[in-house]
Amino acid sequence: MNPLTIGVLGSGKGSNCGAILEAIADGRLAETRVGAVISDVPDAGILALARQHKVPARHLPPGKFKTKLEPHCEEQLVALLQKHGVELVVLAGYMRLLKEPMLAAFPRRILNIHPSLLPKYPGLQAWKQALDAGERQAGCTVHLVDGGMDTGEILAQATVPVLAHDTPETLHARIQAAEHELYPQVVGWFASGRVR
Ligand code: GAR
Repeated sequence: MNPLTIGVLGSGKGSNCGAILEAIADGRLAETRVGAVISDVPDAGILALARQHKVPARHLPPGKFKTKLEPHCEEQLVALLQKHGVELVVLAGYMRLLKEPMLAAFPRRILNIHPSLLPKYPGLQAWKQALDAGERQAGCTVHLVDGGMDTGEILAQATVPVLAHDTPETLHARIQAAEHELYPQVVGWFASGRVR
């Protein structure tokens, strides 16, 4: 069986992308390859990480908007992903909403990970929102992407406890550790045909 080619999009340090690359390297995600890593931020850590792993790393300028791509930029993103043979798009800290060009090109083939138990706490610093709300449990969610912010069909969640002396930083670190387990697993479901 040919490996599933994924394209990873991110705006930040890329620890989730790193977890996926490591899972591929150590055989947990054997049926998967990363075709390209693409960022809207020229000096994002995720691009350096991709280069370390000898994966094509590309900066794609987003255009004039802050929270989404300019339509012609989003068309360029589709073309770049297709050029690299990408079958499944994996958002890993990509801080822009995707719209019709991407949603039409990759129907039910775009995943996102978010650091909360959605539908609670979409948006920024979700771990801090959970802590401020006095939650006893927090976690992360992998979902299919639609045009909304952290909306779309939920595929998997992992929970972590909120501990008495947690700070935003300690809770965030615990959630990220859970993300690094969960995201490679869900990508693996696609690679093995368990999710269609
Ligand atoms: C992750 O924690 C991910 O859940 C979050 O960005 C972080 C990226 O970290 N995404 C969102 O908040 C999406 N709304 P990383 O660059 O280390 O993978």
